[in-house]
Amino acid sequence: MRQASLKRLPSRFLVTGGAGFIGHRTVSVLLDADPGAEAAVLDNLSVAMPMPAGRERLVAYEGDIRDRMRVDQVLAEFRPDTIVHLAAVHHIPTCERQRAYSLDVNVVGTETLLDAAEAMGVARFVLASSGAVYDWRDGALDETDTPLRARDNYSIAKHTNEYQVGFWGDRTGGFARIARIFNTIGHDDPNGHLVPDIIKQIPAGQKSVDISLGNLSPRRDYIHADDTARAIAAIACEIGPPAVDVYNVASGQDVSVQELVALLGQVMGIAIRVDEDPAKKRRIDRPSQLGATGKIERRLGFRASKSLRIALEDIVRHLNRELALSP
Ligand SMILES: NC(=O)c1ccc[n+]([C@@H]2O[C@H](COP(=O)([O-])OP(=O)(O)OC[C@H]3O[C@@H](n4cnc5c(N)ncnc54)[C@H](O)[C@@H]3O)[C@@H](O)[C@H]2O)c1
Repeated sequence: MRQASLKRLPSRFLVTGGAGFIGHRTVSVLLDADPGAEAAVLDNLSVAMPMPAGRERLVAYEGDIRDRMRVDQVLAEFRPDTIVHLAAVHHIPTCERQRAYSLDVNVVGTETLLDAAEAMGVARFVLASSGAVYDWRDGALDETDTPLRARDNYSIAKHTNEYQVGFWGDRTGGFARIARIFNTIGHDDPNGHLVPDIIKQIPAGQKSVDISLGNLSPRRDYIHADDTARAIAAIACEIGPPAVDVYNVASGQDVSVQELVALLGQVMGIAIRVDEDPAKKRRIDRPSQLGATGKIERRLGFRASKSLRIALEDIVRHLNRELALSP
């Protein structure tokens, strides 16, 4: 029975964390892509983003992934064929400061969901993992060849999640996909502080400014949030084989913090001079994190389509609108 459902195109998606930065975009992409698709969101609204609303074929459940009774109730009522698991404590400083709490949500919460999915016979599970699970290496980090090595509490959880999902796939014969998401950027990010931090240091009307930040040299692969959502939807709609597989979700291009600040200056029409502030430096900060994009391009035809400049323009436009509306 499970094998038959693995080959059928998925059409009922439960998106945990569907109220979040990536989640609300993913829900929209899934519903837009297929007029026969239905989606449900399970989210405890802990990052204070609103529940997605105002769409047909969408149902919202407020609840915590660690609450087994609530999860069972949602699965029994909505009957998803696919769970897209995005709910997590994603704010890295919170993961370091509140270590037991973040592991409880990110590891125990994931296990609660997997166990409930197994009990209910849900055939397909997509996990939001992270590019942070890779060992620190120069050059593009590759799904097949680059070793994994967790170096902080957040990546410990994501690395563990990958094992949990793999074990679930082996145990149940279910379809499991792991999306290793790289630095996603866009407006409405409750955890993304770099660009708002920079903008807040620029007094209104100023045409040139000096600011200070933490480490300036680390290079990151920034992917627009709309592209991340498209990639996750493509992964969620894939039909096997193999039963368990991994994809990077990345743009395939990296820039340093210094280069990002220069580009932001261009977007805002401001000359920004930036200094490194030792007090703001992260103790643990990998020098580079670039994702190899060949596998997802080859297998799913996915390619990031929105540039970093577009992401920065979106963020600036939204922040300016918020500032204009604030009393
Ligand atoms: N944003 C990125 O750059 C990035 C990079 C790599 C991986 N990821 C992963 O992608 C996923 C989505 O990230 P995001 O940027 O949208 O984060 P986000 O914080 O905006 O969204 C997470 C959502 O999960 C919900 N949530 C948290 N704890 C919950 C719980 N116990 N029960 C139910 N819901 C809960 C939150 O309310 C929020 O709506 C996360 O798993 C994150 O770790 C994100």
